[in-house]
Amino acid sequence: MAMSFYQTSAGSPVSMHRSRFLYILIATIVVFSVFFYSPLPDSVDHHRDALVQQLANTAKLGDFGNHTTPDKPVDSKSGHYVPTGLDDVKSQYAFATFLSGSSTDPNDHDPSHDPYFQATRILSYQLLHAPETRSKNASIPFIVLVTKDVPEEKRSRLRKDGAHVVPVTYLTADWITTDYPAWRDVLTKLRLWELTQFERVCFLDGDTILTGPLDDVFDDPAVHLHHTGTDNKAIKSDEAPLPRNYSFAGVPESKPIHKYPPTDENHDYPNINYLNSGFFVYKPSLDVENYYISLMNIPDRFNPELPEQNLFNYAHRREGNMPWTQLANTWNIHYPSIEDLNGGVRTLHEKWWAPVNEGLRPYLESWRWRMEGFHEARDSVLEQQKAKGGFRDFRWSD
Ligand SMILES: *[C@@H]1O[C@H](CO)[C@@H](O)[C@H](O)[C@H]1NC(C)=O
Ligand SMILES: *[C@@H]1O[C@H](CO)[C@@H](O)[C@H](O)[C@H]1NC(C)=O
Ligand SMILES: *[C@@H]1O[C@H](CO)[C@@H](O)[C@H](O)[C@H]1NC(C)=O
Repeated sequence: MAMSFYQTSAGSPVSMHRSRFLYILIATIVVFSVFFYSPLPDSVDHHRDALVQQLANTAKLGDFGNHTTPDKPVDSKSGHYVPTGLDDVKSQYAFATFLSGSSTDPNDHDPSHDPYFQATRILSYQLLHAPETRSKNASIPFIVLVTKDVPEEKRSRLRKDGAHVVPVTYLTADWITTDYPAWRDVLTKLRLWELTQFERVCFLDGDTILTGPLDDVFDDPAVHLHHTGTDNKAIKSDEAPLPRNYSFAGVPESKPIHKYPPTDENHDYPNINYLNSGFFVYKPSLDVENYYISLMNIPDRFNPELPEQNLFNYAHRREGNMPWTQLANTWNIHYPSIEDLNGGVRTLHEKWWAPVNEGLRPYLESWRWRMEGFHEARDSVLEQQKAKGGFRDFRWSD
């Protein structure tokens, strides 16, 4: 009976049609329920991501108030620059990130409980050591800008990992208030423009995971030096003067659900003119930093909720005189998916401890444990070498 039923239904075009219809119906229901019910991480980051979306959808770039500011670059705390020195590094290029202490629970001092600190160590491991992802040119340094509240214990761990730790003083402005105090610190990222010994620096947010080497990003046409525009309508008398040339290349904010590689034609960006500040390549310049600081000192010139991202989106607005340029759409994606990973995106802008797409968790976590294991082994080899008096750091071969 079963046999003949099977044969009949398999042979009947009507039932085949019907079962195909059923499959499509079930698939549609599954896709929709995943879309509507997938839980997002319940954290500050959830809030930030939601806000990024909202701003990307509504940002009126170019909105600003009528305020005056001193045209000198002033650190609101110390009153002057404290330029950054890295005399031992000889490279045209650098990778850099920013770490502050305020993203963590102030009562919990265990570094292994600080996901941003772990994320910074993972970046260091991926850029400097892991054979699949490290720089092809071993002379490219990885620089971690740290604020005062990053304790020495964490700094020395990062140095042991091979990173260059650069302490910087805060940059803040009183009018910039955010829902989360931690976000205020991000303006201190503007100190990155003090790394003037480098031709170009590739900045990565701490919550970034590489899938391959990043050296070629410095060859992306978007990172070329550009002449600053001279449109008078875009020049504001209360802002510091612009440099004659600049380089600032980034990626647009992407929608949480997008195709790989994302394109504007596919509607994968809420607003292709709105950049995400988690990944960019720039030319360090005190003139540019001076300009940024002048903006920071003008209340309401940009939306303060995501301070540094909106400052960049104002300073490098497309209709301004220093428009940002877009890197290839394969370098970095916010809200990455398995499809992006399989498609070959070079960096995933995602939190290894709280991915929006749960499917990525095993991949992201595997890097965390590889990093831990590698350094445990490397530390012990270095200890032994030191004990024998033959201390020498080295780059492990494949
Ligand atoms: C800015 O404010 C000043 C002083 O209140 C006023 O004279 C000037 O016209 C204003 N400028 C603009 C563009 O609104
Ligand atoms: C690596 O970078 C250094 C410093 O920028 C440069 O002198 C050297 O030529 C580079 N090596 C290769 C293989 O590209
Ligand atoms: C870029 O600007 C700097 C500073 O004004 C100047 O020294 C340099 O020659 C300029 N470079 C080019 C390629 O225009």
